[in-house]
Amino acid sequence: MENKETILTLLKEVNFPGFTRDIISFGIIKDITAENNLNKIFIELPKKDEEIAKKIVQDINNAFSREGYQLPEYEFSVYQKQGGASPASNAPEENKVNLPNIKKYLAVASGKGGVGKSTVAVNLALAFSKKLSNMGLMDADIWGPSIPMMCGIDTKPMATKDEKIIPIEKFGIKMMSIGFLLSEEDTVIWRGPMVHGAIKQFVEDVEWEGVDNLVIDLPPGTGDAHLSLIQTVPLSGGVIVTTPQDVALIDVKRGIQMFKKLNVPLLGVIENMSYLQNGDEIIDIFGRGGGKAMAEKFDVPFLGEIPIDPEIRKGGDTGLPVVHNSPNSASAKAFNDIAEKLIDKL
Ligand SMILES: Nc1ncnc2c1ncn2[C@@H]1O[C@H](COP(=O)(O)OP(=O)(O)OP(=O)(O)O)[C@@H](O)[C@H]1O
Ligand SMILES: [Mg+2]
Repeated sequence: MENKETILTLLKEVNFPGFTRDIISFGIIKDITAENNLNKIFIELPKKDEEIAKKIVQDINNAFSREGYQLPEYEFSVYQKQGGASPASNAPEENKVNLPNIKKYLAVASGKGGVGKSTVAVNLALAFSKKLSNMGLMDADIWGPSIPMMCGIDTKPMATKDEKIIPIEKFGIKMMSIGFLLSEEDTVIWRGPMVHGAIKQFVEDVEWEGVDNLVIDLPPGTGDAHLSLIQTVPLSGGVIVTTPQDVALIDVKRGIQMFKKLNVPLLGVIENMSYLQNGDEIIDIFGRGGGKAMAEKFDVPFLGEIPIDPEIRKGGDTGLPVVHNSPNSASAKAFNDIAEKLIDKL
């Protein structure tokens, strides 16, 4: 029988299946006890999933055997949602977050990088703000923040008396990005726990007062920032952005699985850079329709297509997003239509 500390150290080496974060920092280990000289590990999963449970048992058993320890017993339970609280509120005390009064959190994710997540996040926030008041936009991409450039912001935020960061307001939307605080030359090497701290701070230590609906731009893939966010705020839903090429579509599956695994409602898939419109002619550069097919295959809603539009790219580079700058363009319309569908779903 090993002691609790030894077991905790060992469990820290076991990752949550499919993720780079260990099961301890994930917050699913609820207790470790010793009965009849046998250790018992109590595990709480975000939702019922036999496969995940099996994999976790297997990985823990492997870690125990490796050290020559006697295999433990297990007891699994499933996280019960209470009054809209997130799994974070069940996590250890130090993980507790003072959540701002935000009503809806929408995360914009993608399996692959460079498919236009940030472009979609910014333009969707603008499209939402035509219908909804009190919009906010949070850049959770701490490795490559895009909001400052895409929204043309080069000022630093101020702080309130109680040292909360005041979001910068642009186009009527309150925004926060790590890019407001760092200069472009600054490079930060983020490690797991730091990522969690940064994401938590972006929620807790920013004066989100007055924001009811928050769009969150995520880094590409399914990594630490995603888990931290999901553990920190009660996400109302997520969308996945993809381009139509097969290389991007392969990764859509991972994104879909991530939301499913973590019990976050997946509101749908958006296909960006779908086609190029040249007068009356439509050119399928990357093979339009892959996003829709993928959504059907995994039985998630398809939200719409956004064309390849030089105005979108220019808008992103000059801080004038297309929904703001050319509100009557076909591209702006594509964003508005998707925003309306999402408002219905949220
Ligand atoms: N529909 C579009 N038409 C033309 N250009 C686009 C379109 N969507 C995005 N872009 C351009 O493609 C580039 C990548 O977009 P963006 O930064 O939004 O992708 P991302 O998925 O957020 O990338 P990362 O994974 O690095 O965060 C940007 O220069 C952007 O302006
Ligand atoms: Mg981005």
